Amino acid sequence: MSMAAAGTTALAQRIRELAREKNAVILAHNYQIGPVQDVADFVGDSLGLSRQAARTKADLIVFCGVHFMAETASILCPDKRVLIPDLEAGCSLSDTLNAQQLAAWKAQYPDAVVVTYVNTSAAVKALSDYCCTSSNAVEVIRAIPEERPILFGPDMFLGAYASRVTGRKNLHIWAGECHVHAAVRPEDVERAREAHPGADFLIHPECGCVTSCMVYLKDKDLRQEDAYITSTEGMVNHVARSPKREFVVATETGILHRMRKETPGKKYFPVSAEMECRFMKMITIEKLLHSLEAGVHEVKVPSDIADKARLPIERMIAIGGSGGKD
Ligand code: 13P
Ligand code: SF4
Repeated sequence: MSMAAAGTTALAQRIRELAREKNAVILAHNYQIGPVQDVADFVGDSLGLSRQAARTKADLIVFCGVHFMAETASILCPDKRVLIPDLEAGCSLSDTLNAQQLAAWKAQYPDAVVVTYVNTSAAVKALSDYCCTSSNAVEVIRAIPEERPILFGPDMFLGAYASRVTGRKNLHIWAGECHVHAAVRPEDVERAREAHPGADFLIHPECGCVTSCMVYLKDKDLRQEDAYITSTEGMVNHVARSPKREFVVATETGILHRMRKETPGKKYFPVSAEMECRFMKMITIEKLLHSLEAGVHEVKVPSDIADKARLPIERMIAIGGSGGKD
């Protein structure tokens, strides 16, 4: 074992000891770095981790992900302490829609039902009727009566995908995007198709190439059975089940660690090696240890906002989606 690997193992052991002593649960998103995923109690997508937070018996939740995820856990568990190892771990998508903007948008469509992606601040959730994740956006939209207009935000690519799948015409979509996923262009998919002709394509619905991929799929240029537009958990589940040996993955590259670990012996290629979320990568194993040792950094949503944001999040948790393994 190298010196670096031995150091990581020692840190991981200390983290596990402290988690036991403090009755803490460590939740890690699929985009976290390998050592953080490896030391966590649960690794999953946004929906699965929200479900884990909602049902945990632990006294302390340490959220290895980005800020809105820790906020969601705090809203679901107002009596527990929720920590994030780095308070600066934000989300560029969440920043594209704030509460003032949503209030002004709602005022233009007073009859509309507001569906916001979980990648939003607690204040935005407090103004929403439903939250959703990439795992259940389609099911959430289908749960809303056909005649009711919907305001969907902030991710325009996920909104366009959900609109196409549901055929919903009265869906108004906010023009927000994630800098990591929006950068994937149809040309990246073309290049990967040439390089890996037998591979399955796994595409996150936040990607900038999703609309063109759906057009390809409709035209049978990209075979339906070779392309899957799905959440991070849907991708992990797909590679485990599929008889295919090669997969091209269009989402943040942290997910490849979990695929290689849980389904070894297959080949995984990122559609672009540049798909790294700098916010997710701010969480390190050293910061996780410090978080447990020093009890920092607490994320606590004020009760007036949390009380309003809880219902849309609970609706999200109750509606469909793969949402992670138990
Ligand atoms: P998932 O819900 O698919 O895990 O996605 C979360 C996210 O932040 C996407 O960038
Ligand atoms: Fe936000 Fe994009 Fe990072 Fe996901 S990958 S946390 S949407 S900035």
